Amino acid sequence: MKTMLNVALPKGRLGEKVYDMFAKAGFECPSIKEESRKLIFENESAGVRYFWVKPSDVAIYVERGAADIGVAGKDILLEYSPDVYELFDLDIGKCRMAVAAPSDFRDNPEKTLKVATKFSNIAQRYYSSKGRDIDIIHLNGSIEIAPILGLSDVIVDIVETGTTLKENNLEVFETIVPISARLIANKSSFMFKSGQIEKIVNSMKDM
Ligand code: PRP
Repeated sequence: MKTMLNVALPKGRLGEKVYDMFAKAGFECPSIKEESRKLIFENESAGVRYFWVKPSDVAIYVERGAADIGVAGKDILLEYSPDVYELFDLDIGKCRMAVAAPSDFRDNPEKTLKVATKFSNIAQRYYSSKGRDIDIIHLNGSIEIAPILGLSDVIVDIVETGTTLKENNLEVFETIVPISARLIANKSSFMFKSGQIEKIVNSMKDM
């Protein structure tokens, strides 16, 4: 029997694109395109099993070996530092991690800066490297309203088109790091399923 490769895909728009790349690389699983609420799809003859997971959970599945490989944003890899191999930049899902604030914001270096974010570790590292004292306010979403309501001075968040910031009267003040989707692998799967994983990496590199 063929060894199955378990692949964690990020649920959502990015995941559809990612699946298409895998299909082109020879790991098709047509049933995944059918409308349904199913989360696991398998093509035994191609030796692949896909499952849809929350984008921020992909790295957990891969780190613990429930998935052999998966696709995760660099934001998640930087924030949680999972113990996985980062194999390849897929060059999709591009955005940036940035500091944003209302346009009249002026940083007062004598005061502790209040930073609202979902990405506490990234924010902490960034400001530590600048020697700036901050107070992190960890939120789980709708970060943009924090400075509007006076909960924070700035936010550290993902900016893609800039629409969310604009519609909430915020501006980018600094870019911290560019972000894109990465192919990641479980460390032991990378050794034991190297043939299948190499095939995927090589064909994706040629796309
Ligand atoms: C992200 C981010 C911003 C938005 C930026 O949220 O937190 O709110 O996208 O995109 P834009 O620059 O194109 O407007 P996401 O939709 O990932 O969901 P979230 O609210 O759960 O963070």
